[in-house]
Amino acid sequence: MPLYAGVMSGTSLDGIDLVLVEQTTEPRLLETHYLPMPEPLRQSLLALCSSGPDEIVRSALAEQHWVRLAAQGIQELLEKAQRPASSIRAIGSHGQTIRHMPQEGFSVQIGNPALLAELTGISVVADFRRRDLAAGGEGAPLVPAFHEALFAHPSRVRALLNIGGFSNVSLLTPQQAVQGFDCGPGNVLMDLWICHQKGLSYDAHGAWAATGRVRPELLTQLLSDDFFAATGPKSTGRERFNLTWLKDHLAVLPHSLPAEDVQATLLELTARSISDALTRTQPQAEDIFVCGGGAHNTKLLERLQQLLAPSTLQTTAALGVDPDWMEAMAFAWLAHCCLEGIPANRPSVTGALGLRILGAIYPA
Ligand SMILES: Nc1ncnc2c1ncn2[C@@H]1O[C@H](COP(=O)(O)OP(=O)(O)OP(=O)(O)O)[C@@H](O)[C@H]1O
Ligand SMILES: [Mg+2]
Repeated sequence: MPLYAGVMSGTSLDGIDLVLVEQTTEPRLLETHYLPMPEPLRQSLLALCSSGPDEIVRSALAEQHWVRLAAQGIQELLEKAQRPASSIRAIGSHGQTIRHMPQEGFSVQIGNPALLAELTGISVVADFRRRDLAAGGEGAPLVPAFHEALFAHPSRVRALLNIGGFSNVSLLTPQQAVQGFDCGPGNVLMDLWICHQKGLSYDAHGAWAATGRVRPELLTQLLSDDFFAATGPKSTGRERFNLTWLKDHLAVLPHSLPAEDVQATLLELTARSISDALTRTQPQAEDIFVCGGGAHNTKLLERLQQLLAPSTLQTTAALGVDPDWMEAMAFAWLAHCCLEGIPANRPSVTGALGLRILGAIYPA
């Protein structure tokens, strides 16, 4: 049975997730590996997420640094699994998004797939988003097809919710085309605020947010962003939701707020933007399954469960998929779809003109 590796380096910039998957009728997870993002690389990538001088050279250098790390990750993954490179049919590599501007017709993922193929000796499938954008789509989210293939249920209405840097949802309704869209910021604003205030990379289990109070005046202000009320297809990124965005909204308030109240309000923003979007687009969702790093935020999950009751909220572990590895598994599957000629975008999600085969192949 063919083996694929999946490499996901998400918008949180926390690190690179790697998986080894056996693709039978259903993908089977054989091994996992995680490499935290070294701080200098993290800073270079973050700087590339907004306009600045000499972007072409900085981006070419950053992607070489990134791809060497990804290649090291593949090597360690294969050592753990005790499999030779020759046993892997392809690596599905998402690359690192440094700009996502679908309204301008583009989304940029760097990750030098040619060098990844050269360093690993394994064929690489990359550049998954641009064909959908070329066909008039958002190029995102791409995981709904994978969620549909694995988790669509003949009679139950299911929602898959990924809470990474940003949050996105896949709505699986029996006998209907899958729907999906980005809901808004997932962890990104909470991460930025706790880093700005305390120098920490994230708010473990939402513990700091739990010490603060949700401020309705700030919440209303933040929710007034047009993105939240827009109907899909829609996708977003750091171009829109960033520290400047938050500070601009804070500056409009007539008084300053305790930092922990801001954090509590940002957690509420993540929860409300998800629950508002879900109840508006699929009020019948019975089972909601969460994946991504946000699945570890106990406080956030508690709040989501309150807002979404009587629907039940569980992590994707209940479906047999570890919530930390879902996205990387999706990119291993997308590589398989590319090589098999299976279209993997969903026009009902991205708004593309039609089904398209996603990805570009860099043979070993
Ligand atoms: N124990 C925890 N408590 C609270 N938040 C956590 C915890 N562990 C991880 N996180 C959050 O999850 C984030 C990482 O999530 P994840 O890797 O899914 O996002 P990502 O890399 O942006 O992925 P993608 O863009 O593919 O969705 C961290 O930045 C942090 O905010
Ligand atoms: Mg990540």
